[in-house]
Amino acid sequence: MAQNPVKITETVLRDGHQSLVATRMRIEDMLPQLQALDAIGYNALEAWGGATFDTCLRFLDEDPWERLDTLKKNLKTPIQMLLRGQNLLGYNHYSNDVVHAFVRKASEHGIGVFRIFDALNDVRNLKVAIEAALECPEKPHVQGCLVYTISPVHTNEKFVELAKELEDMGCHSVCIKDMSGLLKPYVAEDLVKKLKAALHIPIELHTHCTSGFGHATYLKAVEAGVDIIDCALAPFSSDTSQPCTETMVAALEGTDRDTGLDRQAMTPIAKHFLGVKQRIIGEFKLKGYFDINPNVLDFQIPGGMLSNLANQLKEAGMEDKYQDLLDEMPKVRADVGYPPLVTPSSQIVGTMATFNVMSGERYKMVPKEFKDLARGKFGRTPVPVERDFLINTLGVKPEEIIEDCSIEDAKGMSFADFKKELQDKGFLNPTDEDVLSYALFPQVAEEFFKKHYQAVTAYKR
Ligand code: CO
Repeated sequence: MAQNPVKITETVLRDGHQSLVATRMRIEDMLPQLQALDAIGYNALEAWGGATFDTCLRFLDEDPWERLDTLKKNLKTPIQMLLRGQNLLGYNHYSNDVVHAFVRKASEHGIGVFRIFDALNDVRNLKVAIEAALECPEKPHVQGCLVYTISPVHTNEKFVELAKELEDMGCHSVCIKDMSGLLKPYVAEDLVKKLKAALHIPIELHTHCTSGFGHATYLKAVEAGVDIIDCALAPFSSDTSQPCTETMVAALEGTDRDTGLDRQAMTPIAKHFLGVKQRIIGEFKLKGYFDINPNVLDFQIPGGMLSNLANQLKEAGMEDKYQDLLDEMPKVRADVGYPPLVTPSSQIVGTMATFNVMSGERYKMVPKEFKDLARGKFGRTPVPVERDFLINTLGVKPEEIIEDCSIEDAKGMSFADFKKELQDKGFLNPTDEDVLSYALFPQVAEEFFKKHYQAVTAYKR
């Protein structure tokens, strides 16, 4: 047994299929291998949150809460979810009581690791979700994220400061979340060394192979002392997904950071998931995923989004504008204060860049969400957005500019408001879980309930 084994979090059940096959894996695809996955000895199995919740309701006719129950029934390994702070899994800031209710329910249903991030790295957007997770009676592991990006204002020193804040807030570990695979090997080495020196809690690294660095970045991070790395089994690894589990296990065999995991035991599991991937690509007629592209360092678009943008242009008959779009992304990002590009900022910046390219005139049409991001509604951007740009280019009124957004007074609808709204629509006795699904994805959840509630006099659960 190695002195200081690297732990592995397996992402095949969440980020792996979110990055490569548009999050279309069903619980039936997972069930046959849960026992085998459980026996490997992973640090955690990432299996919930991110886009899985929305996709369950929207495309797979699955109740995400029931999926979690099934996972929990079959797994002793901690189940990890990805949570977007005050956004939860939706696209708005929710009121504090909705955040508390959601986190409490997720913990009750079996989440063992809450990985919590904010697209702008604004800790005010993380505070309530972190507190809610720390208060759960099941005592889940609470992890805070540094959303990694490159810009003229992002430095390793700044990331270390942010990590210290997360530690002070009570997080049990910190994750470097490199959703677009921008973290270069030697930069990772430096960042991990600095974090290990400054913090007392474990450091985890999450990357994607989008620009081709993945495995090399993990190796340098391991040498620098990173505690946990996120990997996906071979069929759901590489390209826009995580580095490969089996490869990393093999690479570290016989070293003082040997994972101790049984690579042979992974072979039949990987074989099963290769079949699942092929089936999904055929069933949903997916275009397939994108290969390694080092230019992602410039346009910084996260894995899942590239294909969406390409499709948007295709639908508009403007496929030839693809390169223009990739060139426009970094310009729009600079205009709006260099936010890291991750949900929801990636969609917001991506849509704005698409509009600019399609209309042939910059900022002719400006979506509401882009104005909101620019005027500070979602929190502080890494660099303040120029007032002149806000007022004269985007048409934001001076009184709409939010100088010091405080999430404490998030004024969204309360849990009771959402419940009442659902009851007013004729769903008389929704469960708390249903109310939360509805709060996050109102139209999608309503359609789902119509199919699954028995309509007697009204819809009854
Ligand atoms: Co990811």
